[in-house]
Amino acid sequence: MSRPKPPRKIIIDTDPGQDDAVAILLALASPEEIEVLGITAVAGNVPLALTEANARRVVELSGRPARVFAGCDRPMHRALVTAEHVHGKTGLDGADLPVPRLALEPQHGVDFIVETLMREPPGTVTLCPLGPLTNIATAFRRAPEIAARVQEIVLMGGAYFEVGNITPAAEFNIYVDPEAAEIVLKSGCRVVMVPLDATHKALTSRDWIARMRALETPVGRAVAGWTDFFERFDVAKYGSEGGPLHDPCVIAWLLAPGLFSGREINVEIETGSELTLGMTVADWWRVTDRPANALFLREVDRDGLFALLTERLARL
Ligand code: RIB
Ligand code: CA
Repeated sequence: MSRPKPPRKIIIDTDPGQDDAVAILLALASPEEIEVLGITAVAGNVPLALTEANARRVVELSGRPARVFAGCDRPMHRALVTAEHVHGKTGLDGADLPVPRLALEPQHGVDFIVETLMREPPGTVTLCPLGPLTNIATAFRRAPEIAARVQEIVLMGGAYFEVGNITPAAEFNIYVDPEAAEIVLKSGCRVVMVPLDATHKALTSRDWIARMRALETPVGRAVAGWTDFFERFDVAKYGSEGGPLHDPCVIAWLLAPGLFSGREINVEIETGSELTLGMTVADWWRVTDRPANALFLREVDRDGLFALLTERLARL
């Protein structure tokens, strides 16, 4: 009888954000497969003071242990662009969570990323960025030697067929800090990109939200409230049935990669043109000889994804 695989060690880098919150809950609900070494907050959907407090609120809601660190409060070279129009003023509108009792870790999130990658054996830590890539890129700049020690980077960001959601050309996480995204994609790390092409198929439904509410747990009520609030933006904009659960797709890929499919392709980031800033130029049709640097996901089994989410969130 083969011994069960040890859980995959991950660092979640995040800008909660309702979808980030569901991703964090999914990871913390899956300790047999995932060991969350730490959660580093970054400025993105809302400013850092809110994303770090929101991350602590979500950890507390989960009832599972995790450490939260505050990282960078602005992009590497640009002013911060936020998304209150999508996530609300608090970043977690839709559910009213108490001020967290869980203390913020005193160490800066970037230092935590560097220290963890230097301490853990090479190739044993996966980075899971769910927001702008500022913390990850800053860590790579501060300690270039850590890139070779990363097992892989599984990130939510970018788009090709789905083009942009914050501008006509760019997806939000990449747009907020395009220089950081360029550093990450040129780092030589194994990168799995979960772009809008996949996440726009990960749509909530009224039935699923009702199923969350029917759990009659604090987690079920919060997830129902968040997704109720969060979907209104996409339903109004795209006329879609529900809201796309972008970030949980990153954790779902770790748990059940068979739910997704994509291609190993080259992806470059536009950092020069104001018109197309942050565009992920994905060579899906391999029309260039640029080497593949990412597994770019395009398809997701929506039913399988929501069945996994339901089963796991019901555990909390
Ligand atoms: O474009 C979607 C991404 O931007 C998601 O990660 C969402 O949380 C926001 O950060
Ligand atoms: Ca996010």
